[in-house]
Amino acid sequence: MFQSLPLAPPDSILGLTDVFNKDPRTEKINLTVGVYKDETGQTPILQSVKMAESKLLSQEKSKGYLGIEGHPEYLKLVSELALNGAVELDRVSAAQTPGGTGALRVGAEMIGTHFPGSRIWVSNPTWANHNSIFAASKLQVETYPYLSSDKTSLGFSEMIDHLTQHGRAGDFVCLHACCHNPTGIDPTPENWSTIAKLLNEKRMIPFIDYAYQGFGDGIVEDGLGTRTLLQHNSEAVLCSSYSKNFGLYSERVGAVMVVNKSADGKEATLSQLKQTVRSNYSNPPRHGAATVAVILGDAELRKAWEVEVDAMRSRIATMRQQFVEGMKAVKSIRDFSFLLTQKGMFSYTGLTPLQADWLKKERAIYLVGTGRINVAGISPSNLPRLCQSIADCLVATAN
Ligand code: LMR
Repeated sequence: MFQSLPLAPPDSILGLTDVFNKDPRTEKINLTVGVYKDETGQTPILQSVKMAESKLLSQEKSKGYLGIEGHPEYLKLVSELALNGAVELDRVSAAQTPGGTGALRVGAEMIGTHFPGSRIWVSNPTWANHNSIFAASKLQVETYPYLSSDKTSLGFSEMIDHLTQHGRAGDFVCLHACCHNPTGIDPTPENWSTIAKLLNEKRMIPFIDYAYQGFGDGIVEDGLGTRTLLQHNSEAVLCSSYSKNFGLYSERVGAVMVVNKSADGKEATLSQLKQTVRSNYSNPPRHGAATVAVILGDAELRKAWEVEVDAMRSRIATMRQQFVEGMKAVKSIRDFSFLLTQKGMFSYTGLTPLQADWLKKERAIYLVGTGRINVAGISPSNLPRLCQSIADCLVATAN
């Protein structure tokens, strides 16, 4: 039977890491997957996480199952963190999920099961996995334009015109709360207000992907888009991830939060989220969520974590700045100053798939084919070679 299976294509992001790991060239640079790295190229375990883990280790009494919806204290604390007072928590049905991907899948599958034929609008471009997750959840995936024609900024009027013209009541609109993946280009506060009002007018429902809280402007500041959406819309789905801001990638820590019109709907919605979880992975893993709960529930650890998030954000911003300056220093034929308006872990460089391929083959520099780079993969030591290589690539591939 299985002999007839065709070979699936490698994942457009994680597949590149496999190729990178096998590349024998020692000078190789990995700017693909969205994983934070420090100036030495390591993905560190946060100190706050280490401290919370040692506390857990000494206090933990059982490895018994969590409830289907997950760790109660974690759910309360992350709901407060993500929603930041935008809605009363008695309207929120929340379930702990394996990472942000798990949150997107549980939320989307619950919708696909109970509201078959629902449409979800995703930005063009968006994180490649959005398309796969939503399609696998039986949602009809539609796209709205996101970028200006030169691809260096938000094409806001095109986005709004498209959703106004083609959006229908009951459609979901996937929005990146902050640090848009893959572009790093976020709506302004005024843009958020227009989006929020449009969704309300057209009775479309925000489906928010919140994977980078703290990596844009700050832990609280990054919630502006979400708060604005919830100010104008009585229902929403929010999918959060604690992979990046707690550095808990492999622990798979996320949550799906459905905001109901009123507290009355909370229990039934939660029961359907639980059904979805039960038929997928039964109940979520404890360790990562328990770690987050310890940190957020302890004033001192929380402060230490906030300082660490600020440090990660500021290192990325510095690397972004130095990359732009570095490209000027090597007399690049293209000006990359537009990257300075982008935020978070990623930047959309405008490099083409052909140029990404050139960089991989000729210089052992790996970026996603869309031209997305993980700015956190840049360090003071690889920056000069990176800038020179991109400058050479632009010349070699001109015409
Ligand atoms: C990314 O976009 O690189 C990250 O969100 C990791 C992933 O799973 O793709």
